[in-house]
Amino acid sequence: MSEVIDTPPNTRKPKPSSWPRYIEAELGFRDHWYPAFFGAELTEADISDHHGDEVSNIRTEVLLGERILFRRVNGKVYAVEDRCRHRGVTLAARPECYTADTITCWYHGFTYNIEDGKLATVITDPQCPHIGRIGLHSYPTEELAGIVWVYIGDDDPPPLAADIQPELLEADLTVAPFGWSKVVNSNWRIAAENAFDPGHAYIHRNSELVIENRVPTVLSNTNIKRGNGMEVVDPEEGPIGVRIERAGGTQVWEAVAAEGVSIGARFRPGDPGAMEGMVPDVSIWLPAGVTVDPFPAPGIMQFEWFIPVDRGRHRYMMTWAKRGLTTEAQRQEFFAELEGSWLNDVPEKFNHDDVFAREAMAEFYDRGEGWANERLYGPDAVITAWRRLVSHRGGKIQTPAHAWADEETA
Ligand code: FES
Ligand SMILES: [Fe+2]
Repeated sequence: MSEVIDTPPNTRKPKPSSWPRYIEAELGFRDHWYPAFFGAELTEADISDHHGDEVSNIRTEVLLGERILFRRVNGKVYAVEDRCRHRGVTLAARPECYTADTITCWYHGFTYNIEDGKLATVITDPQCPHIGRIGLHSYPTEELAGIVWVYIGDDDPPPLAADIQPELLEADLTVAPFGWSKVVNSNWRIAAENAFDPGHAYIHRNSELVIENRVPTVLSNTNIKRGNGMEVVDPEEGPIGVRIERAGGTQVWEAVAAEGVSIGARFRPGDPGAMEGMVPDVSIWLPAGVTVDPFPAPGIMQFEWFIPVDRGRHRYMMTWAKRGLTTEAQRQEFFAELEGSWLNDVPEKFNHDDVFAREAMAEFYDRGEGWANERLYGPDAVITAWRRLVSHRGGKIQTPAHAWADEETA
């Protein structure tokens, strides 16, 4: 006879949350810098001919439900709200730019200055009193480590350095000027937690990259807590995050799956032919970036980001870096190594297992009552530390009123 061992999930009363603002922040947190795209993906502005042909050198991205238009003028990237002040259409639907630093709405000719968003002229009503008085929201941008960053917030931005992985600022680090990026169908919080989840190492035991390169990969790390393999980094000014230190907690290489059945990691450190020096530090930083050091091979560091697009999607970005490269030839050799293998192999033969897991969680968390009904276990201690920290230190909660971009078209 079977014994009832638990209350069915949907009848249990949810406990008051210990991370209330995190639960609310399905669209992310304002007042932070986010990576938008790799700088190499936007070249210098082109200009329409005098009939108003469409230009090609603009870029639109939806971040936190806001559709943002980017254009590079004299090397600098500018960003404005991609929504005409007149009747709200998307300027990027048919982008017209009669000068490098303006964008004209294809519908009635409202023409905006790209640098500050101000309405500069109206082609179909040159005396329009709105000229100089209204404009598009203009977003601060910066370019660092080959990435265009945009500030989503209302006040003056903090330094970008407060919102990025601290390793990105190391003086002897070379970051690749390219990387990988894709929109994934899950909420951003699920993605951030997946990347930083010690128990999820289990899904990578059969990742092709692990097998092909004989990468020692634990089944899980248990007993991680503050002072035992985990550090919560919470200074007055950022970066703010959680670190899992090398070999944090107790590593699980072998476990019993059922009576008489044991399961083990495919490769352990010291196994014949196993990749050496591959026990990584993993850390996560506000608003949503991760460092894995080293990965996918000794001496290479992987950076990842999980940027809210809308409630049900995030942009998954990653790039790689190496310390101590002193000559241009060494840098080019590193970039060639990435382009020759890791740029494709890491997302397609390793992190695709993470994407699979995030999308598999969407039903429970994004559309269901997962936040109230989950039953966390020991290795999730680092995830709850992250949730508490973000709930406490994250910026203003992005509301549906801020997130005007249509989820169908975003
Ligand atoms: S909708 Fe843009 S000018 Fe009318
Ligand atoms: Fe993973």
